Amino acid sequence: MASLIPKPRKKLVFLASGRGSNLEAVLQVIQKGKIPANPAFLITDNPEAPSIQIAARHNVPTKILDWKSYSKKEEYHLDLLRTLEEISPDLIVACGYMRILKPEIIRAFRNRIINIHPSLLPSFTGLHAQKQAFDYGVKIAGCTAHFVDEGVDSGPIILQGVIKIEEGMTERELTLAILKEEHKILPLAVKHFCEDRLLIKDRKVSIL
Ligand code: GAR
Repeated sequence: MASLIPKPRKKLVFLASGRGSNLEAVLQVIQKGKIPANPAFLITDNPEAPSIQIAARHNVPTKILDWKSYSKKEEYHLDLLRTLEEISPDLIVACGYMRILKPEIIRAFRNRIINIHPSLLPSFTGLHAQKQAFDYGVKIAGCTAHFVDEGVDSGPIILQGVIKIEEGMTERELTLAILKEEHKILPLAVKHFCEDRLLIKDRKVSIL
């Protein structure tokens, strides 16, 4: 009788610079057994990032590459590449990682880096995306889980979450509403990747 051989779990590395709420959202879903993945490491550029405690609570070890300690920033990027190559993850999840990844890293892990961004891309790339959207006066805002390419927040879009901006909504309320949505779409995008369900063609991502 044929038996079903389960697919191997994907090895994940997380990149985070700060608070880590998206990291926690993904780790929680993995811990519930809903994503076939082994979270191998968190890598952070910030030794004070609360993300480190979140990773520790989920038994995920952290490697710290302290951005401030590198007088030559190229060395940071080289160390990051070396560290990633050593770990050799199937997927890198950038969750609140505030540095731009160098093309060498993108090339080494082409279509294997997912980022979460707090706007409906391609609008409002870069920093403070929620404030950019709020100040612009858009009526619909949201967040995007996307593959990372050589541009800034420009890679193929996997999932988007939408927030309707109601009359009187403050920027803070909008930021919180977007974050709540991020916590839904990022774990789902990671799940789809780990289940081999994402197909990229001409920058369009299909979910099989
Ligand atoms: C999130 O809102 C994420 O989308 C944003 O930083 C925040 C990190 O929060 N990322 C970017 O702006 C990247 N360009 P978290 O540390 O609580 O996940």
